[in-house]
Amino acid sequence: MNSDALRDVIEDVKHLLDGDWSRREIEKREAQQQQPASPVSREEALEETARTVSSCRRCGLAETRTMAVPGYGVLDPLVMVIGEAPGSEEDRQGLPFVGAAGQYLDKWLAAIGLERGGNVFIGNIIKCRPPQNRDPFPQEQQACLPFLKDQISIVRPKVLLCVGRISAQILLAKTDGIGRLRGSVYEFQGVPLVPTYHPSGVLRNPEYRRPVWEDLKQVRSLLDE
Ligand code: URA
Repeated sequence: MNSDALRDVIEDVKHLLDGDWSRREIEKREAQQQQPASPVSREEALEETARTVSSCRRCGLAETRTMAVPGYGVLDPLVMVIGEAPGSEEDRQGLPFVGAAGQYLDKWLAAIGLERGGNVFIGNIIKCRPPQNRDPFPQEQQACLPFLKDQISIVRPKVLLCVGRISAQILLAKTDGIGRLRGSVYEFQGVPLVPTYHPSGVLRNPEYRRPVWEDLKQVRSLLDE
């Protein structure tokens, strides 16, 4: 045994013999383990998620995006609106639903007493724009969904409003079209979920206005329960 190894052994034996030292050391370590992790506020957790989204490179959409769009809104919102993915204007500004569909969405919200930035959180399943607004690939959905799940846990909405086929299908793990999915209340992460048509679909198809109004009234009645 060389002299270094011998010195280590002597140190170990001294520590074992020195009951006081080892007891104090064990108590110190136990106390450290029992310390709660430094408390992070929900605001900080939400900001941290947004920072992670903004620098995310988990899928190929990172190559083509201008800006990632983490989402926008308040903690404890009455409603969390979940769209599909950013379009061209959202990609440019880094904010959700800021184009024509977003302006129409604001009117829907106002019709049931809700307001962007006041009592709503608005986000998307996919945080980066798919080229030519194509449907997101399964690998992109899988890469991005954990961000939305985290956001739901952090902001704690009362009701989830899925707008459009893609967000409803992904959160409900179903393949039916939105015409079949809407009209029922589901649950995701313990939060009631109401699916409806996408505002840009309704702008193109005015006959969807009536069912959307039924769905919005459903949201309102869940909030009033
Ligand atoms: N359509 C969406 O689904 N999300 C947006 O953010 C904008 C348009």
